[in-house]
Amino acid sequence: MQTFPLFMSLQERRVLVVGGTEAAARKVALLLSAGAKVTLIANTVVGEIAQLIDEARISWAGRAFYDEDLSGVSLVVVASDDEALQARVSLAAQQRCLPVNVVDRPRLSSFIMPAIVDRAPITIAISTGGAAPALARRLRAEIERAMPAAIGRLARFAEVFRAQVRRTLDHPRVRRRFWDRVFEGRIGEMALAGDEIGARRELIRLLDGTRRETGSTVGPSAGMVHLVGAGPGDPDLLTMKAHRLLQRADVVVYDRLVSAEVLAMARRDAERLYVGKRRANHCMSQDAINDRLVALARAGKSVVRLKGGDPLVFGRGGEEIEALTRAGITVEVVPGVTAALGCAASAGIPLTHRDHAQACVFVTGNLKDGSVDLDWPMLARPCQTVVIYMGGESLQVIASQLVAHGLPASTPVALIENGTTDRERRVVGTLATIERQAVRAHLQGPTLCMVGEVVGLAMAQSGGVKAGEFHFESRVSL
Ligand SMILES: C[S@@+](CC[C@H](N)C(=O)[O-])C[C@H]1O[C@@H](n2cnc3c(N)ncnc32)[C@H](O)[C@@H]1O
Repeated sequence: MQTFPLFMSLQERRVLVVGGTEAAARKVALLLSAGAKVTLIANTVVGEIAQLIDEARISWAGRAFYDEDLSGVSLVVVASDDEALQARVSLAAQQRCLPVNVVDRPRLSSFIMPAIVDRAPITIAISTGGAAPALARRLRAEIERAMPAAIGRLARFAEVFRAQVRRTLDHPRVRRRFWDRVFEGRIGEMALAGDEIGARRELIRLLDGTRRETGSTVGPSAGMVHLVGAGPGDPDLLTMKAHRLLQRADVVVYDRLVSAEVLAMARRDAERLYVGKRRANHCMSQDAINDRLVALARAGKSVVRLKGGDPLVFGRGGEEIEALTRAGITVEVVPGVTAALGCAASAGIPLTHRDHAQACVFVTGNLKDGSVDLDWPMLARPCQTVVIYMGGESLQVIASQLVAHGLPASTPVALIENGTTDRERRVVGTLATIERQAVRAHLQGPTLCMVGEVVGLAMAQSGGVKAGEFHFESRVSL
């Protein structure tokens, strides 16, 4: 180890910063966030520092540095471009045994400032011993991505119980095991999700069980279900939270819309439970799915219910929430990119447009009893985009009703199958032609239908189609 990591309290301590550069501004911001009282010496300062001076958040001496400036300070940072000044301050500080850092000059520094991940009260410091600060910054970005922003909330939650757990469980190994269970399981998830009451209740229960059965395993208590949006297919469209939960789940309950690439993001040894759900050919009824989710949670499992797109957009997520809540199971919803947004982005179709679509409506082309009974006058209004989920089988009804209620037969329509995946296909036509085109294209995968001028606009702007990229039939040629 080239340098020894330490965390130093700077609360209410005086820190001297020499220099008024942008680098100085960055260091001052960090020092202030650690509670330091900063004195800055520089003849000229950049705007950010000037603002801090104006707001009286730091004291400033607009003059040269004198050795006496070091008296009473705990730490010295030099962020000036003047090399002679850098050497002078470094020497004077080290003669007084004061820790000193000269920005980008490791030889003149007695300590280095690491890259920091701040998830207060958790702080992670990364150092490459001055060898490659850019690499340290990259590592920091990776860690920040992997660490939920709410992790500090979890630390504060644990802090509340620290003394009680120490009193109750006196064996360090038992305590360690207890905390592992708290952080790795649903209690940690609850606390991260802000369900502090539920997390407290479960923690107390686990603590009681551990005390009674010290040395043996603790009986299961109620688990938790996360209703997670898997997005339209492209795994890069998963949220970071979804990814993290998939990495921790005991069981992943998924259906047909979830792409294999997204499912592959789950922890390798998580149980994967397919519950089907092809329209009119459900592998498992919704009631059976609800019962299974409740049973898994009651068995103490951390369950991810992975649903295509967003769980609350035409996904019967509401029914699952109701069933779980009724059973007293904690549920958290993690949104996903819904098919309309994924497909629109992928096809370059703006769902709204200042000149062509001031509204956008999402409807389902499939009703409970298999009929299509939509508010046609509302859907046939001009200057809006209509996005139809599950419209594949009712395309003929949809197109003819929209025309019967006033939309021109020449209104552009796009069908997007398997949007955002590498199997994506698009068929573009008009209300008059789209059904015939769809039959010819023999669309099999999940398909979204978009109706409106914005479709024509996007196709005109794209200048046609790149060969092999998607199936396209020009409106003009039909
Ligand atoms: C039961 S709904 C679920 C919608 C989902 N919850 C969402 O937010 O996207 C299923 C319908 O969503 C649409 N869909 C879902 N994923 C799609 C994709 N990758 N490409 C095209 N359409 C998709 C299709 O219309 C499909 O029939």
